[in-house]
Amino acid sequence: MTVWWLLLALSCLGLSAGLQKSNKYEGYKIYEVSSKARSVALEEALSELVKNASYYEVFSGFKGGNSAKVMVHPDEQISFVKLMDDNNVVYDILNRNVGLTLSRQFETNHMLRQWFPYNGRLGTERYYNHDEINQFIEDLAKENPRRIFLKTVGKSYEGRWLKTVTITNGDARRNKNVILVDGGFHAREWISPAAAIYLISQLVDNLQDNADLLQDYDWVILPVVNPDGYEYTQLSEETRFWRKTRKPSSPDCIGTDPNRNFDFHWNETGASSDPCSLTYAGEKAFSEPEAVVVRDLIHSYVDRGKMYLTLHSYGSLILYPWGWTEGVPDTVADLHEVAAEGQNAILEATGTEYLIGPSTTTINYAAAGASDDYAFNAGFPISFTMELPAGGTGFDPPASDIDHLVKETWVGIAAMARRVIQKYPLA
Ligand code: ARG
Ligand code: ZN
Repeated sequence: MTVWWLLLALSCLGLSAGLQKSNKYEGYKIYEVSSKARSVALEEALSELVKNASYYEVFSGFKGGNSAKVMVHPDEQISFVKLMDDNNVVYDILNRNVGLTLSRQFETNHMLRQWFPYNGRLGTERYYNHDEINQFIEDLAKENPRRIFLKTVGKSYEGRWLKTVTITNGDARRNKNVILVDGGFHAREWISPAAAIYLISQLVDNLQDNADLLQDYDWVILPVVNPDGYEYTQLSEETRFWRKTRKPSSPDCIGTDPNRNFDFHWNETGASSDPCSLTYAGEKAFSEPEAVVVRDLIHSYVDRGKMYLTLHSYGSLILYPWGWTEGVPDTVADLHEVAAEGQNAILEATGTEYLIGPSTTTINYAAAGASDDYAFNAGFPISFTMELPAGGTGFDPPASDIDHLVKETWVGIAAMARRVIQKYPLA
């Protein structure tokens, strides 16, 4: 903990203040707009207004009675606030200067990188880049050649290697059931790869406590699905909120939402055909090499696969199918039962309240072409999107939050896995 005091001291001395340069998000504010007093007509108007991407970035939308979160350009704040006031809509300011928050975070991350260089293990002190994460799983496999298996499963658009780590108990029994986990679909959701890393560390380092999780089950984990995007968000404050992949999608715009690119009700709802949109579905299903990699993993493990879990942020949610329709699968009770295990375990461990339910009605929007629906439809009996809690301005929990977030996520995942193992014993 001394590190945090030192950081605090440094910033109090003003040593770091001089380094803070202004950036794209200087003066941006984040508003949370309560659903109180928001008529349907006003919601429609707001949804239209915030489509203006030069002034607004929506973190969570206005439709369906959610409290909306939206980041607003400095030049637009007066008129935005006036619109709220004129309509008696209640709002809070969640962040008064996003640029300042981000530049402080980048400075801290830079220092932490030097204080905690890669040493073969990835702790919870800081965020890691894609090279470090790949190095980590390679080193694990080298150290534990009978327990941990590394597999190169593909390449991102920019040529980064996608590698899975398979964790076993080393008893060399084949054809166990499988739990498939991925992270880092969306570039800016840094806590997701961090949670995947912690999951890997627990399963590898804590064999004693987790023997039951590896008795009849192997775990296959892809920590960063979208490394091009993930690396891009680490470049600077300007790019911190990038979500998509990095393949050009039109002369003007880059990237596809990899979680709208799967060939199951592709682009039917909750996705966009506009290459500049944050939720661009791609020129066709599986146009993105990263989505193809996850598709192939799903199919190669589906015979043994009992749970597919994709880690996102933010929202404190465990979502199960369907995400493309308001309908629910016949086996909704099984999905709910397993999700409830995770929800309860996390509540007991830390008091964090997760909401669980079918994706579409729980987040109040349908979004087709996502990996969870695809995996479920392919045959995984349990398939979840876990939205980890918000931190910082939402997508950017400060490094000091990593430890407790990934630990509580692990508690939830382990609890869900134990129920899955009970429900789906090895045949
Ligand atoms: N926040 C995630 C996304 O927008 C939620 C995905 C939930 N699953 C679904 N099939 N809609 O990508
Ligand atoms: Zn996401």
